[in-house]
Amino acid sequence: MNEADVNTTCSPTDGIRTLYTELAIHPEMDFGWGKGKENARRLGYDKRWLESLPDIAWESAAAVGNPFALGPLRSSEAVVDLGCGAGADLCIAALLVGNAGRAVGIDVTPAMIAKARNVAHAVGLDNAELHVADMETLPLADASVEVVISNGAINLSAHKPCVFKEIFRVLKPGGRLQFADMVRDGADEASSCGSWADCVSGTVEPQRYLEMLSAAGFMGSELVALTGYRTAANTIGALFRARKP
Ligand SMILES: C[S@@+](CC[C@H](N)C(=O)[O-])C[C@H]1O[C@@H](n2cnc3c(N)ncnc32)[C@H](O)[C@@H]1O
Repeated sequence: MNEADVNTTCSPTDGIRTLYTELAIHPEMDFGWGKGKENARRLGYDKRWLESLPDIAWESAAAVGNPFALGPLRSSEAVVDLGCGAGADLCIAALLVGNAGRAVGIDVTPAMIAKARNVAHAVGLDNAELHVADMETLPLADASVEVVISNGAINLSAHKPCVFKEIFRVLKPGGRLQFADMVRDGADEASSCGSWADCVSGTVEPQRYLEMLSAAGFMGSELVALTGYRTAANTIGALFRARKP
């Protein structure tokens, strides 16, 4: 099945909201894939964040890689986290850019945004803002941020080229995109609508991501590494980097 077929036969948003509301409210449940602080530790998150952020920041985290391994965030930069979930990466970004910077979390699941707000409050962040919004239509001005990060979320969009166009639009010239996401691993194209929300059937091959990034106008797009995280036998976490000219 190619991406166009997937897009017309599945309507994933309801399933996504249902699943990620469950993860926000019942983090103790087994969803069949890695989550939480131990998962983040396995993916190479810095000990300083694992130890300093409160447990509520990690319990609903569903990282598939570590986007902070892809390059530094600098003091006073504006950063957007697409599909921020319960806000662990958002808090790390807000702490890295400091009070002169800004960290904006975007998520389509209201329960995740509510939890991320609680987490940001618990961490004492004044420079974090959160929006219930779709990454395909960002509530942000053109050329308004230096960095876009994301972790395990872009694969969930049925309109990935729109997402990359939106990222390009909101980045300042020279802005950086650094994201972790699930990609298709191997030639097996079999997929099912039921597993879209679990980061399986919405995945594409890494080369497709590089083509979409290039079509959106990005330069220096690269697949940096595979993370080893899996949601199915034919999916694997991957780290990508690109920049706006
Ligand atoms: C696998 S979770 C990852 C959450 C977070 N990035 C983390 O590392 O814990 C994917 C998140 O993406 C959100 N999401 C899915 N599709 C989205 C969309 N089109 N726009 C914004 N958020 C979306 C989901 O609600 C969910 O919170």
